[in-house]
Amino acid sequence: MDLTPPPVSLADLVAPPAGSPMRRREFIFGAGTSSYQIEGAAHEDGRLESIWDRFSATPGKVLRGEDGAVACDHYHRWQEDLDILQRLGVDAYRFSIAWPRVMDQGGQPNERGIDFYKRLLDGLAERGIRAFVTLYHWDLPQHLEDRGGWLNRETAYRFADYADLMSRKLAGHGDVAAWTTHNEPWCAAYLGYGDGHHAPGLANPRWAAQAMHHLLLGHGLALPALRANAPGAQHGIVANCAPGYADRDTAADRDAASLFETYQNRWVLDPLLKGEYPAELWRYWKGCEPLVLPGDMELIRQPIDYLGINFYSRAVLRSQGPDTIAWVRHPDVERTTMDWEVYPQGMQDLFEAFKRDYANLPPLYVTENGMSSHDSVAHGEVDDVQRQNYIKQHFAACSRAMDSGVDVRGYFIWSLLDNFEWAFGYERRFGLVHVDFETQQRTLKRSALAYADFLRERAAG
Ligand code: FCB
Repeated sequence: MDLTPPPVSLADLVAPPAGSPMRRREFIFGAGTSSYQIEGAAHEDGRLESIWDRFSATPGKVLRGEDGAVACDHYHRWQEDLDILQRLGVDAYRFSIAWPRVMDQGGQPNERGIDFYKRLLDGLAERGIRAFVTLYHWDLPQHLEDRGGWLNRETAYRFADYADLMSRKLAGHGDVAAWTTHNEPWCAAYLGYGDGHHAPGLANPRWAAQAMHHLLLGHGLALPALRANAPGAQHGIVANCAPGYADRDTAADRDAASLFETYQNRWVLDPLLKGEYPAELWRYWKGCEPLVLPGDMELIRQPIDYLGINFYSRAVLRSQGPDTIAWVRHPDVERTTMDWEVYPQGMQDLFEAFKRDYANLPPLYVTENGMSSHDSVAHGEVDDVQRQNYIKQHFAACSRAMDSGVDVRGYFIWSLLDNFEWAFGYERRFGLVHVDFETQQRTLKRSALAYADFLRERAAG
């Protein structure tokens, strides 16, 4: 008997199943990054301080006291990084603009900072790669935080000015397929103002609710400018979402799971798609309703061309009395070094639920999906087996959701590079590409080589 396993191509290590709609040429595959996590050059060309510079410099906030001052030094190595994207063969690259780089304290353009993004967009276009540009991936200028940050309604108007400026300045550079107002308002609002794990480090659910409202208002105020300045692009927003599952099959645990989804998903999606905050949320956070002025919800619920979903894991919930929920951590399940459970089926369940819950659900993009692991280079290679499996299984889950009628248009792996993982510093490696932070040497992990192989095969038809 021949026990040799059948040969597996490199592409097969990650590829979506045969016949998957994701294999169609028009489906967009990409990889993502964000400014503070990769750029470095924190003091160059007139860049102002951001809330993440301040937060990282505060003792005890970031693991091992690390910060993004150098990060992947992408500000200087961007050409090498774009060459890597080209080698991967991606259709699109998702990155963010650092607000503190492109505007001075008086709100005037900082041309030296803006030029960086012009070069980046032109460089992408030269390599045949489209751009998904995010305006806000958490690096608020510190001077705005000094005036209250997202707790101050004024910040929403400053954000709209910034969106207007950038979409005008970058017009004619590269091929911007999509503008994103915010990356993960949930994290910016809750982790930043609700529990203090992220910059600016404030902790009060009432503040989180008000910050969320101003973030969403900023999104609504920015959309008309983006549409006017970039009529050929799609305009939308990106939310981090996770399904919640009842730990036990009881009404109380099902209620806990539903309350979790309200706080994790509906807090962001209901205002955007239904024009109202979910009333149940204020059961959980009593008395925390934000101040909403007439007209705000109409701005927030304007139609968007797409919704980006960042998907990583799920939550399992137990009730601990009325409106009190607890996360359950089951020991015998696969996890990543973030301690997040690997649960690909959650992506299918989540997308199908969105399709049921929101009659006006716009087309979806998976704008982030990926995992962190302890990757190291051995003999010039990084065999990230867990990541290869993770990607393959999540591609399959996305594919099943599409087969059942969910309109998903593209998929971006988080992340292109190992980078500064916020409060966890450089310890958590999410990259398709390994970065040696001492030497800035980049090494494509096996997942990256497999992704490239799959994209090559698909392009060849
Ligand atoms: C998301 C963030 C992204 C990265 C991943 C792991 O919440 O958008 O910057 O940190 O998680």
